[in-house]
Amino acid sequence: FSIRASSYTDELVQTAKLIASPGRGILAIDESNATCGKRLASIGLDNTETNRQAYRQLLLTTPGLGEYISGAILFEETLFQSTTDGRKFVDCLRDENIVPGIKVDKGLVPLPGSNNESWCQGLDGLASRSAEYYKQGARFAKWRTVVSIPCGPSALAVKEAAWGLARYAAISQDNGLVPIVEPEILLDGDHPIDRTLEVAEKVWAEVFYYLAENNVVFEGILLKPSMVTPGAEHKEKASPDTIAKYTLTMLKRRVPPAVPGIMFLSGGQSEVQATLNLNAMNQSPNPWHVSFSYARALQNTVLKTWQGRPENVEAAQKSLLVRAKANSLAQLGRYSA
Ligand code: 13P
Repeated sequence: FSIRASSYTDELVQTAKLIASPGRGILAIDESNATCGKRLASIGLDNTETNRQAYRQLLLTTPGLGEYISGAILFEETLFQSTTDGRKFVDCLRDENIVPGIKVDKGLVPLPGSNNESWCQGLDGLASRSAEYYKQGARFAKWRTVVSIPCGPSALAVKEAAWGLARYAAISQDNGLVPIVEPEILLDGDHPIDRTLEVAEKVWAEVFYYLAENNVVFEGILLKPSMVTPGAEHKEKASPDTIAKYTLTMLKRRVPPAVPGIMFLSGGQSEVQATLNLNAMNQSPNPWHVSFSYARALQNTVLKTWQGRPENVEAAQKSLLVRAKANSLAQLGRYSA
């Protein structure tokens, strides 16, 4: 048998395997400038390039990070930045055996004809941008689109999300980047967990239908799903065991074992909650590497500890390692709070 030949196929499969390596997961620091500005504002800092660089330098130069982190997703500005003493950020990552990644989507805009839903832009010029990112050292990509349960979701929004992800995945692979496929099903809403399961099954069925139609090599992709939980405003909370049961049931029904890794987003869960849920999912063997690609659940304490002060950098880096190690243990199913 063979998987579809492209000059990059072997490399894509290797990159995906390296990212999905035991006890490691992804540090997502690909906040757009606008979102990064909100994070900086929460500790009283202005949204300047200098402050964004200082914050990303703190994260990317944490000594020992590569023990727990296999990939880091960067925003375009960060991919081309260096430390204040002139080391390229991509080289800092490579020295820790961390694969540099890049957010390639251009964000969400309203989807006309839908129920107040959105679609994700960024396919125009994606091939040439991806080739540039590869040259700069990126080896994987991320495209995040969203699906809203309270808004329907409409058949149109689901189809658009799935098709956009599949086109992006094919273009990324053609340019040597492992695509992270991320249809985030937003936590917002008061729906029960069974409704989330139903929507997630529908969304992933369409995503895989179009991935196959676009001849995407499944061995060279990674997924970034939301966990299957009740809506954030639902009257009952679910335990980590229940979330793990629902989420794994959904994934086993929809995701072929050829896919090497499932790297969850944290989606607004607290740091400890996100770790406990991941740990619950790794209590028995899974067909894929089940791990994390957290942004907020790895960075909340780091930001609070840093406060923009150089004298706090070391303490902030230590707090990043605490969360990274906890999630590493959760990937191995060995975390206890
Ligand atoms: P959160 O883990 O904060 O939900 O971020 C997810 C994401 O897509 C960032 O890359």
